[in-house]
Amino acid sequence: MDYFRYIDNRLHCEQVPLDQIAEAVGTPFYCYSQGTLERHYDVFRNAFANARHLICYSVKANSSLAVLDTLARRGSGFDIVSGGELERVRRIGCPGSRVVFSGVGKSASEIQAALEQDILLFNVESHGELMRINTIAGRMGTTAPIALRINPDVDPVTHPYISTGLRRNKFGIPHPKAEELYRLAATLEHVQPIGLDCHIGSQLTTLEPFVDAVKRVKQLLIKLRNQGVAIRYLDLGGGLGIPYDTHEIPPHPERYAQALLQELEGLDVTLILEPGRVIVGNAGILVTRVEYVKDGEEKRFIITDAGMNDLIRPALYDAQHTILPVMRRFDREEILADVVGPICESGDFLARDRILPEFHPGELIAVRSAGAYGFAMSSNYNSRPRAAEVMVRQDRYAVIRPRETIQQLFENEVLFG
Ligand code: LLP
Repeated sequence: MDYFRYIDNRLHCEQVPLDQIAEAVGTPFYCYSQGTLERHYDVFRNAFANARHLICYSVKANSSLAVLDTLARRGSGFDIVSGGELERVRRIGCPGSRVVFSGVGKSASEIQAALEQDILLFNVESHGELMRINTIAGRMGTTAPIALRINPDVDPVTHPYISTGLRRNKFGIPHPKAEELYRLAATLEHVQPIGLDCHIGSQLTTLEPFVDAVKRVKQLLIKLRNQGVAIRYLDLGGGLGIPYDTHEIPPHPERYAQALLQELEGLDVTLILEPGRVIVGNAGILVTRVEYVKDGEEKRFIITDAGMNDLIRPALYDAQHTILPVMRRFDREEILADVVGPICESGDFLARDRILPEFHPGELIAVRSAGAYGFAMSSNYNSRPRAAEVMVRQDRYAVIRPRETIQQLFENEVLFG
């Protein structure tokens, strides 16, 4: 449930009409509903209320400070994948004890910075990384708390680019090699193996893959404990999907939690969860203005001022974001159309081959479900300044990131010679 809805045929974010924000801020802009963010976080947290757990929101989904701050105030911890994300969560005052560090390629300086912040857990993805963390922690005279990220080889049945838990993916330590690496970790002086981690993919719309993965890691956890490795944390990653269009209905967080907790019954462990999309995806939309409308031979092209540099998901994953008019009118015919951006690539579309109401130049379009991996994946391709971001709370809004200026685009550049 989110707080984007029509009031008198005018699309609102909470109580603020989106056309009013567009007039003041210009287009394109991302708009987040703070009430929705909080609601999604609360629903997720409440689903796990009966289990000892820590929610570590996955910063990569949307790393804007106002989003992180909203969730931190709710008690969220954070899952980070870079030194930049570490610095973001530090900026909003989150203590290291609520931070886990994931990712296959942690650099030496990132590891050192995370140790300086006393983070809760490094999710280690290779033998090389384990040895590197041990060396750096030794040099700093400290011990690093670690989990090994296991690749359980289960099929998450999602887009290949966002599947991570298959044998052929680069992520994690192959399940058959995990025990050996834990045994090695236990002998190292400057790492302390206290956790077990897995994340199998993103935008999962069924529970079975999660359950299969939990079964596998649970068996491993019990085996490790029997061998004297004191695993206290079980990190199950993120990945729960959201509805992008109406015929794709992923399980409610309540059912997701029930399924996981049922598998883990009797296991004395602190659960860590790393949800990203399910918290922020439907708490945000992208608002763009129609520049031109032109008829191709087969269909109409609605050309907007937002392009693939603003929202790359349709181009990259063939994602189906719902397209809505900001002003709903009932006198419009439905037509077959592509919503495309101004970028010089045929892959630059926000929606393809959709039946949509006719749009006219100057009108506003809302692209739904754009809160996760929207702004966070945006770029300056075609030397386009990145969009503004706005957050709404009830009847108030604020620009949480002004639109980039042309000047900012080349501020760090120098001529050669
Ligand atoms: N934990 C780890 C270790 C991850 O790699 C990810 C996402 C998450 C948690 C959060 O997953 P979520 O709950 O958001 O599914 N750009 C793609 C999604 C990439 C996901 C990468 N990892 C997209 O736009 O669909």
